[in-house]
Amino acid sequence: MPDKTVSTRYIKVDPLYPEAGAVEEAGRIIRLGGLVAFPTETVYGLGANALDGAAAARIFRAKGRPADNPLIVHVAGTDEVNFLAEDVSGAAGILMETFWPGPLALIMKAQRAVPAEVTAGLRTVAVRMPDHPVALALIKAAAVPVAAPSANLSGRPSPTTARHVLEDLDGRIDAVLDGGATGIGVESTVLDLTAPVPTVLRPGGITPEDLKGVIGGVRVDPAAASGLFGGGRHRAPGMKYVHYAPRAPLYLVEGRPEAVAVKITELAHAQRAAGKRVGILSYSDSRDFSSVGEVVLAGLKEKPETVAAELYAALRRFDELNVDLILAEGLEDRGVGLAVMNRLRKASGGRIVRA
Ligand code: TXA
Ligand code: MG
Repeated sequence: MPDKTVSTRYIKVDPLYPEAGAVEEAGRIIRLGGLVAFPTETVYGLGANALDGAAAARIFRAKGRPADNPLIVHVAGTDEVNFLAEDVSGAAGILMETFWPGPLALIMKAQRAVPAEVTAGLRTVAVRMPDHPVALALIKAAAVPVAAPSANLSGRPSPTTARHVLEDLDGRIDAVLDGGATGIGVESTVLDLTAPVPTVLRPGGITPEDLKGVIGGVRVDPAAASGLFGGGRHRAPGMKYVHYAPRAPLYLVEGRPEAVAVKITELAHAQRAAGKRVGILSYSDSRDFSSVGEVVLAGLKEKPETVAAELYAALRRFDELNVDLILAEGLEDRGVGLAVMNRLRKASGGRIVRA
């Protein structure tokens, strides 16, 4: 199949009861080596046959993704995991039983069947079973495991609607299944089970607290907590790239909530005085900043899961508002707030202002 300009088929499906015909067609495209974007409970994924190295390579070209950043393999049932991973350990079994289908990708030792294009040459593979009827129906229809990164151009915010997918990838992929907006809104938690102590490499919908409740000892990789690149080696190759970034530079303001509000107001005034168009990322339960900038609200800061659900759409909204810079209000690193702050710190590329 071509991988330059293709005409991208738009296929609308009912997320509650995906139509068999539409899903069969999309599954066939994947089985034959093509690329199909589809909704999951986290964000939209860009799927290809995970057992076909050439198909996986096409994902990297469509996204402009660095070749050393491995893909997550999506399955529709736990039986398929033994075919992809070795030594599916006791902890893996308990975690799959507790959290699958759901936003938890498990890194295990890879079987030989997994092509190097998928693992980026690593000896490990990340596997997850998504909790979305369209995703599960698609994987079953394809009858192969489906490798899928988020369906955005590399470096852009992940897509939470089919419209976001087309903004980035129209003409670069074979089809998109539109099953409506995704629920969680940030990518899955990535947990490395090959480390001496299971280690969260990317925070997501399943929190470290949730994991500790089930398997006891869990570490959070310091780079995952900070969202910044740190020194040293990166266990999840994806952690070293600038990510989730809107077009305008984003400044993340962190500190006590009162001090953050004062700092944002002060910075917004100064930037406006300098002739800049200022965007402010805030929340419905925060101070009203509408007199000092173009405000985009993303959920309630007291309920970080509501912020996660709206975060990427909010970041993309700033592109439409054509702002020169964005001041983002930081949240507490607690519960899903850790995943939100990880994405905001990455989106800031290190422009963190302490209030
Ligand atoms: O929620 C999600 O996980 C979404 C949906 C589509 O399922 N997918 C997603 O994929 O976010 P992607 O490619 O955007 O992020 C995959 C992350 C990257 O940070 C990558 O480096 C890491 O998982 N990863 C994948 N395989 C790995 C491995 N074998 N070892 C370490 N890190 C791995
Ligand atoms: Mg991604």
